[in-house]
Amino acid sequence: MKLAILGCGQMGEALLKGLLAAYGADAVDAAITTKFDDHEQELRSRYPRMLVTQDNSAAVKGRDVVVLAVNPDAAREVLMTLGTELEGKLLVCICAGIPTDKIRSWAPSARVVRGMPNLPCQIRQGTIALATGEATAEADINEAKELFSKVGMCLEIKEKYMDIVTALAASGPAFAFVILEALADGAVMVGLPRKLAARLTAQMIQGSARLLLETGAHPAELKDQVTTPGGITTAGLLEMEDGRIRSTLARTVQKAASRAQKLGED
Ligand SMILES: NC(=O)c1ccc[n+]([C@@H]2O[C@H](COP(=O)([O-])OP(=O)(O)OC[C@H]3O[C@@H](n4cnc5c(N)ncnc54)[C@H](OP(=O)(O)O)[C@@H]3O)[C@@H](O)[C@H]2O)c1
Repeated sequence: MKLAILGCGQMGEALLKGLLAAYGADAVDAAITTKFDDHEQELRSRYPRMLVTQDNSAAVKGRDVVVLAVNPDAAREVLMTLGTELEGKLLVCICAGIPTDKIRSWAPSARVVRGMPNLPCQIRQGTIALATGEATAEADINEAKELFSKVGMCLEIKEKYMDIVTALAASGPAFAFVILEALADGAVMVGLPRKLAARLTAQMIQGSARLLLETGAHPAELKDQVTTPGGITTAGLLEMEDGRIRSTLARTVQKAASRAQKLGED
């Protein structure tokens, strides 16, 4: 696979790691770019066999797939500078908030797909949304899907939902880590060693999420299976409700989605 990742920061590198784990180092011919010298040196030492450069033009030369993973405010300039060098290439833009027609107007010669991955792609447990709509060819979606399904669950999502999906699934891991840390903090507060608390919490959340996915049950139904009348869980749940955790979490996603939408308007 001949791939370029333009902007190999947190998310770009997470994708790279996932793809390396999925295909093996010999099968991934990747060029990765960054903006500053110190980051370039770091990436060179981590990926000595790859082309690591600040020159996006050199990176896309001879590559079939280009992932644009720079910060949203840098996307326009990077694509406009590349111009016809992207001709015929599959360009997957993962920049939050930028709609497909805008990406297409900056890279008219490329085959554009708007995608939204998340950090767990690096261990091939990601969630990746690919935007569908009139602006995107089905064949290009399928090509992107083949690639991204190697690093997680890949879903086709109508473009109008992409900002919401960004808030929920791409920002979501940060929200999940806060919840995870807070639960572990509670256990530490009453005496459990920190490492043990973190490990137990992570496995508990992973197991609960898998149970939900595998049974297809409503979360409330599974919650009820944990709550013995007059028991321990109910005491904890009441405390959560007093702290208005539901509306806080719901508003978290609502706010993040509005921010994603605003990015696209800037
Ligand atoms: N982080 C996530 O979980 C996540 C999830 C889904 C989507 N995204 C999207 O992915 C993109 C990157 O986010 P991030 O969190 O990975 O940010 P990040 O860590 O800041 O990565 C951005 C990278 O782009 C590089 N860069 C900036 N301008 C460049 C240019 N002109 N040419 C080449 N490289 C350039 C930066 O280089 P330097 O390091 O040298 O400054 C940096 O490595 C954003 O658009 C974001 O919306 C992120």
